Amino acid sequence: MTEKDHGCRTNAKPAGKEPLGLSRRNLFSAIAIAAGSIGLSSIATSAQAASKKYKVCATKDIKVGGGSIFKISAAGGIQIMVTQPKPGVFRAFNPACTHQGIRLSKIAGSNILCEKGHGAAFDTTTGKVTRGPAQIALQKYTLTVENKSLYVTLNS
Ligand code: FES
Repeated sequence: MTEKDHGCRTNAKPAGKEPLGLSRRNLFSAIAIAAGSIGLSSIATSAQAASKKYKVCATKDIKVGGGSIFKISAAGGIQIMVTQPKPGVFRAFNPACTHQGIRLSKIAGSNILCEKGHGAAFDTTTGKVTRGPAQIALQKYTLTVENKSLYVTLNS
């Protein structure tokens, strides 16, 4: 049997260069992966360091089964919708409808309604879509209760 008979010879690279070429490629891949990992962890660390708590309102400002929208001036005027679906249970959402961004304006029962838009509805506890045309849940924020006041945690 000759080398041509088993077909290995036609696609083979010069034996003396391939190990070195693969080694370089692997080295560059490893460097790229390491750099990416370092970059991502730096971003995550920066995000954690940049998150900050802002006072939104007093707990008594939100009625059970209701909600209100507050503008957080200290955080660049960002708007936060706070709901209290059950006594002592508070939630915070971005009040922009996920369909086309119209500001949500009304709470009816356990739903936040996009009355000025196209009629979408979102759950006051989870922010999940309960009626379309929106397909995506509301953006949630971390809300904490301290000394009868509500604080939202935002990334700056
Ligand atoms: S913008 Fe809210 S349903 Fe269209």
